[in-house]
Amino acid sequence: MSAIRILRGEYRGKTVKNQSFSLVSGFQTGAKGGYVTVQNNGTFPNCPATVRIRVDAISDYEMISGDSVEQNTPAPTATAKIAETEEQAMTRIRERFEILTEMSKACIGGDIRAMIVSGPPGVGKSYGVEQEIEKATLFDKIAGKKLRAEVVKGSATPIGLYQTLYKYSDPNCVLVFDDCDSILLDDVALNLLKGALDSGKKRKISWLSESSTLRREGIPDSFDFKGSVIFITNLKFDKMKSQKLRDHLDALQSRCHYLDLTLDTMRDKILRIKQIAKDGVLFDGYDFEPETQDSIFEFMETNQVRLREMSLRMALKIADLRKLSPDNWRRLAETTCMKAAD
Ligand SMILES: Nc1ncnc2c1ncn2[C@@H]1O[C@H](COP(=O)(O)OP(=O)(O)OP(=O)(O)O)[C@@H](O)[C@H]1O
Ligand SMILES: [Mg+2]
Repeated sequence: MSAIRILRGEYRGKTVKNQSFSLVSGFQTGAKGGYVTVQNNGTFPNCPATVRIRVDAISDYEMISGDSVEQNTPAPTATAKIAETEEQAMTRIRERFEILTEMSKACIGGDIRAMIVSGPPGVGKSYGVEQEIEKATLFDKIAGKKLRAEVVKGSATPIGLYQTLYKYSDPNCVLVFDDCDSILLDDVALNLLKGALDSGKKRKISWLSESSTLRREGIPDSFDFKGSVIFITNLKFDKMKSQKLRDHLDALQSRCHYLDLTLDTMRDKILRIKQIAKDGVLFDGYDFEPETQDSIFEFMETNQVRLREMSLRMALKIADLRKLSPDNWRRLAETTCMKAAD
């Protein structure tokens, strides 16, 4: 079992500082923020055998031994959702995305070697990760260092995946697999991914069959992968129905940090859209008056059931139509953005 030292944390109102525990499951986010689950080794008398220690960030603890951390972010319970005010929900959502930023930074910096980000379409997963990579690349350019990052989108053949992993196997490399879920359906590719996403100190990746392509390109049949990997997906790993896939996904989840953005309800998605718009960045470049923005939100809220998707992307599509036709945009949106009425 892995051991962990909490640098700064809190349990039932008491500060936990520089104390070590056996790790049950790694960093997760719940309705009240981040926490890690550890064994109560007697530190907290009259408390359960396993306890959740609140930590604000992954930098608030360090691994002492072992490095495989299993994480499941349970969906908040229905009652917790109902009790949550709009403001609290906004804070929760903002925190999730702050964690995405922080963990992306940690991956880029090599402090975390592997993470899976899961969330519904069009909420800003790719945006969050790519922004951090851009910042880091820019910073590196100035500092004269070299970060090598590559975003792989869509499908990849197993041998293509092996070649990419080899190409980005140095410690200063970050590989982002964005919407590459097809990798999960191929046994060979999946095993390569398992190797790369393993947070263990040594990640040896091998190509088991003879390949003239690899030989021609001078790529060895096995190598140590030392880069960082971020896997972005729409799949909710813990909710998959297929048992075979579930087993594989469990294996992946247990190997690395797993961040579920949990924007699952319609309300959460609408709040996220409003949040980004309120921050002044979503409709940047459209020159909309506040009333115009409000009319777009109102339209989306009124038609939430009929819209094909509730996402930032959808808000941008509707904004395009509003700009195109200030008088007729609702009609255009009805035709192009909505499911047909029954
Ligand atoms: N924080 C943000 N500020 C401004 N625009 C944003 C922000 N986050 C996302 N967007 C915009 O919203 C759109 C959707 O974001 P993005 O592509 O990152 O979603 P996604 O979660 O990766 O979706 P998918 O799962 O479909 O790939 C993009 O056009 C992006 O530019
Ligand atoms: Mg994306």
